[in-house]
Amino acid sequence: MCGIVGYAGKEQAAPILLDGLSKLEYRGYDSAGVCIYTQDGLKVAKAKGRLQNLSDMIDGGAALHGNIGIGHTRWATHGAPSDENSHPHMADGGKIVVVHNGIIENYLQLKEKLIRLGKTFKSETDTEVVANLVEYYYEDCHNFFAAVRQAISRIEGSYALAIVCADFPTTMIAVKKDSPLIFGFGKNGNFVASDVPAILKYTREVCYLNDGDMAVFSGDKVRFFNTAGDEITKEPEHITWEIDAAEKGGYKHFMLKEIFEQPRAFRDTISPRIKDGRVCLDDVSLTADYLKGLKKIYIVACGSAYYVGCLGKYILEKYCRIPVEPVLASEFRYSSPVLGQDTLVVIISQSGETADTLAALREAKSHGARTLAIVNVVGSAISKAADDVIYTWAGPEIAVATTKAYSTQLAVVYLMTLHFADLLGTISQEEYNAILGAVQQLPEQMQEILSPENIAEIQYYASKYFSHKDAFFIGRNVDSAVCLEGSLKLKEIAYIHSEAYAAGELKHGPISLIEQGTMVFTLATVPELFDKTMSNVKEVRARGASVLALTLQRYKEEIAKTVDNALFVPETHPMLQPSLTVLPLQIFAYYIAVMRGCDVDKPRNLAKSVTVE
Ligand code: G6P
Repeated sequence: MCGIVGYAGKEQAAPILLDGLSKLEYRGYDSAGVCIYTQDGLKVAKAKGRLQNLSDMIDGGAALHGNIGIGHTRWATHGAPSDENSHPHMADGGKIVVVHNGIIENYLQLKEKLIRLGKTFKSETDTEVVANLVEYYYEDCHNFFAAVRQAISRIEGSYALAIVCADFPTTMIAVKKDSPLIFGFGKNGNFVASDVPAILKYTREVCYLNDGDMAVFSGDKVRFFNTAGDEITKEPEHITWEIDAAEKGGYKHFMLKEIFEQPRAFRDTISPRIKDGRVCLDDVSLTADYLKGLKKIYIVACGSAYYVGCLGKYILEKYCRIPVEPVLASEFRYSSPVLGQDTLVVIISQSGETADTLAALREAKSHGARTLAIVNVVGSAISKAADDVIYTWAGPEIAVATTKAYSTQLAVVYLMTLHFADLLGTISQEEYNAILGAVQQLPEQMQEILSPENIAEIQYYASKYFSHKDAFFIGRNVDSAVCLEGSLKLKEIAYIHSEAYAAGELKHGPISLIEQGTMVFTLATVPELFDKTMSNVKEVRARGASVLALTLQRYKEEIAKTVDNALFVPETHPMLQPSLTVLPLQIFAYYIAVMRGCDVDKPRNLAKSVTVE
């Protein structure tokens, strides 16, 4: 995810910005840039690739003299990583320069309007629209502050922005909504940054900007304003922690940070694609005629992405009435899949680089099948090779065990299902509206699960089970697919032998492994199957299993008749329930791993991006 640093003060800005950006590298990026107000006016330098490329270009900062500037590390969203798409972006008239983190959802409409008004664009980014929009208003009112305010009133989406203007050599404006931005009060100048580590070397006095807050500042002065434009006061907070912890945003591990990022990541993935109560998948070119001619959909992926595919089978088949088969990418090529123009192959991959998945995609294409990729990393090999791409806006995922990528992949599956079902005419408007409404509620419900009380309860159960050697996860229907992910998490990071089974299948073999005290985690969230799952729970309890259940809040009393230990999640539409049930499973595995002293973010023998077959 992009990183922003801004500085105004007495020191040379460029070296400070380069240093600050280096502290934001952990966020993941593909290009970097700075803009410095020099004696020749605003000068921009930007380069694709590592920060070192930019540093070499400007001689470690020495080539750009000036005391005010903005810097950026870009993690591509709109447009591939390239010099042109890198930030900062200068408006067409050269008056305004902007760095941005977030997604401008209505950038296309704004861009078209600005082009009609005579602005030309050099990049494919949504950010360049902001620069031109501010400049458009500035040309009219010649008031930097008013122009920024007018521009942000027209922008929809998420943003953290740092903006400089050619007519104001000592002033910077910073504003944010739904993307992080902090302000730093320094002795020799003031700062803005996406995260504390970028400026911790220079100041420990910071304040966190709230949504709608705007900071208008120079080296020795700052004024804060709220959304209404009223001046507000913001008190500095003293940062006491050290840089190592800060890079994880105060969390002990990236995995925990990423677990907590899920409501935001989910929202970022769905909101640009929902307009006026409809799913709007501009990224996908599949027509109703094409979908009506489909005989089969394969979902091909590895690891957790494959488990998203297992859920996709239930969801797509139910609403689109097309047979769906999830296949492990490593098996796909060698299993003689029946491929042709009437087959759609959906590829799911966080990294977009997984060797088996990429090979499967190529195999599918070579047999004439159409390919649609759900990918997190813009410009990755899979995103380039697929016919259509839907990006998940999870931001960079650093922990090896995926959490937020899984959740956002699932978000795309929901949107894709509604879009396809609508085109196919296989869903009633009533159901479409109910599901879409429920999808939009999910981030809030996820947030509820992440409350301190719920976390403490999951931690308690983790402490109860952390020394177990074996675990079973059982559930029916979509719950059984979520079990696969919960079980994998426990294996990956806590090194506990764990198996996931469809609850009804247990008696066909695995039940022979149940002994006194064996841990069985049971998911029971599918209303029509609750009683059947409870029967399976009784079978394992009768053989001595220690059962922990995860169910809906409405079954609080009911479940107590069968099990002693239970966790509860809020209820949503049954097809969307996995987005909520998976969270406690991730948290449970995380705390067990911590209690067992495992290296949570870098589990033994595992890699984040698996580029070998
Ligand atoms: C590795 C990761 C998993 C991931 C899988 C597929 O095993 O640890 O978290 O699900 O690769 O990776 P991809 O990048 O294709 O989603």
